Amino acid sequence: MATEINRLQDRAIDLWFGRPGHVSLDGSQYVLSLSTNEVRRAGRFRSEALATQWVAHRIALRQILSAYTGVSADTIEFDTTCGLCGDSQHGKPRVVQGANVSFSAAHCGGALLVAISADSEIGVDLEAVRPDTGSLARQICTESELTRLEGEPDVDRAFIRLWVQKEALAKACGLGLAAPMSDVHIGVSPGPRTVTTRISGSSWWVREYQFGPFLYGAVASTLPTRDVRMLTMERALSRRSFRHAVTALPPIIL
Ligand SMILES: CC(C)(COP(=O)(O)OP(=O)(O)OC[C@H]1O[C@@H](n2cnc3c(N)ncnc32)[C@H](O)[C@@H]1OP(=O)(O)O)[C@@H](O)C(=O)NCCC(=O)NCCS
Ligand SMILES: [Zn+2]
Repeated sequence: MATEINRLQDRAIDLWFGRPGHVSLDGSQYVLSLSTNEVRRAGRFRSEALATQWVAHRIALRQILSAYTGVSADTIEFDTTCGLCGDSQHGKPRVVQGANVSFSAAHCGGALLVAISADSEIGVDLEAVRPDTGSLARQICTESELTRLEGEPDVDRAFIRLWVQKEALAKACGLGLAAPMSDVHIGVSPGPRTVTTRISGSSWWVREYQFGPFLYGAVASTLPTRDVRMLTMERALSRRSFRHAVTALPPIIL
């Protein structure tokens, strides 16, 4: 059981960014802290590299959540029931025990972004700039966003900045890609800013961040946030506690 709980002020968000690396899955080196569902999931990745990366991300997520909920990392239980259709697998994940916090996580290659809030629904996304985003833009942008994008000198970068904000909103409200993205207006801006928008009649706040030359992220919440604290995983997750989370479980079949 974690002894100290990280407490968040009202309308504050902690935003964790890092590259947790890979965890060795060979032989006895496996992850005690994962649930049966997580073990199964790790076994479904296309390659061992992707599986070990996801496991490392999941351990980092569990450790971060442990610090806020007071529940030890390896006993945290997630509820992923969908608020829309009741499916038990694809809903927005919540921790069922300990202090009440909401969280959201996003992966992009080896990078992981996690946001925590004590008093609002929250969503994050993290994406790298990629080429040929035109057809995706036509699916998820409003007419005026499309017009603005066409005039941008670096259209793929402008699109990714817009996309992370829309996906963060979609994850905050729990709808994921089922959210009506092309009805949600964010707009195209020269630099990062905070936007308030509406989804299905409710008001949402979203802000974008840049994490590297080609890496963008965003955080969305129900409440306008006073204070977003940026935290780096590598510094906080000590090698010792990371290693402690890795122990013997049956190897997975890849
Ligand atoms: C949520 C979603 C947008 C994530 O997209 P992605 O680009 O593949 O992945 P990201 O790295 O950005 O985010 C993944 C994280 O989102 C979170 N997540 C999963 N489902 C979510 C949901 N419905 N709402 C919010 N967050 C969700 C999880 O923490 C997940 O991490 P994990 O894969 O380690 O478990 C996408 O998976 C999705 O749309 N899911 C299904 C939603 C759905 O089926 N809705 C139908 C409603 S009936
Ligand atoms: Zn559903």
